[in-house]
Amino acid sequence: MTSSLELRNITKVFTDRNTGNSVTAVEDMSFSVGAGELVAVVGPSGCGKSTILNMVSGLYGTSSGQVLINGDEVTGTRPEVGFMLQKDLLLPWRNIVKNVEFGLEERKFSRAERRERAMQELERMKLAEFAEHYPHQLSGGMRQRAALARTLVIEPDIILLDEPFSALDAQTKLVLQRHFARTIAEAGVTCVLITHDLNEAVIMADRVVVMSGRPGTVVDEFAIELGNRRDPLARSMEAQTGVYVKRLFDTLHLENEAA
Ligand SMILES: Nc1ncnc2c1ncn2[C@@H]1O[C@H](COP(=O)(O)OP(=O)(O)OP(=O)(O)O)[C@@H](O)[C@H]1O
Ligand SMILES: [Mg+2]
Repeated sequence: MTSSLELRNITKVFTDRNTGNSVTAVEDMSFSVGAGELVAVVGPSGCGKSTILNMVSGLYGTSSGQVLINGDEVTGTRPEVGFMLQKDLLLPWRNIVKNVEFGLEERKFSRAERRERAMQELERMKLAEFAEHYPHQLSGGMRQRAALARTLVIEPDIILLDEPFSALDAQTKLVLQRHFARTIAEAGVTCVLITHDLNEAVIMADRVVVMSGRPGTVVDEFAIELGNRRDPLARSMEAQTGVYVKRLFDTLHLENEAA
């Protein structure tokens, strides 16, 4: 099954319990993601991107507004939503394969099936030989691959990714973007991808949502009309890709940052 997602007029205010000071992280933010669609979200640091994913996953409540999955309001975490946080959050006391198995433990899989599925995913991520290692024994990029394996192994309907490729070296990034693009397109997974990499947003997504600085809200949103998104590398070679990247660069006012 594929699922649709809608954020309706979401505002999030954080209030410090000790000082009473409050910060509006996100203000009146609305966008939707159709079933099987991949929407990339870009915006300046601190504009509320991670906060949005936390609300969509049900980990945080909203201050006002609603998150809807297939029209139902989200009130807590759900098993069909896979979530990869900005920090990889592997459990340090579990080895890699046991980390990948984690999400399968709530489901009706035998121990042997869990191990088999986890090992298959680790093989795809070229991590099989590190299955028995612990997170601290892996590089940052390897940990990120393990976290991605853990997110994909549960075969979610909706997948929320917070800069999943940012700690990878440039070559591994190309390989994993491609693997990921194919996997989720074949499975019809609905996806929100947060990234600072404008090129990545364009080559991976069906649509891009651009956020303003804090309090974050939508300032631009457009469809990406390139070749099939199963093949991000082919998309990166299209002339139109650069035009989209420039649009994002301009909307985010990055020329001011360089000055
Ligand atoms: N749990 C929290 N408690 C209090 N304030 C928070 C909390 N989480 C986020 N914030 C604040 O909300 C704002 C948005 O933070 P958020 O992490 O969503 O930004 P971001 O867009 O993901 O940034 P980056 O691109 O750097 O990851 C920031 O001002 C941050 O300090
Ligand atoms: Mg963030």
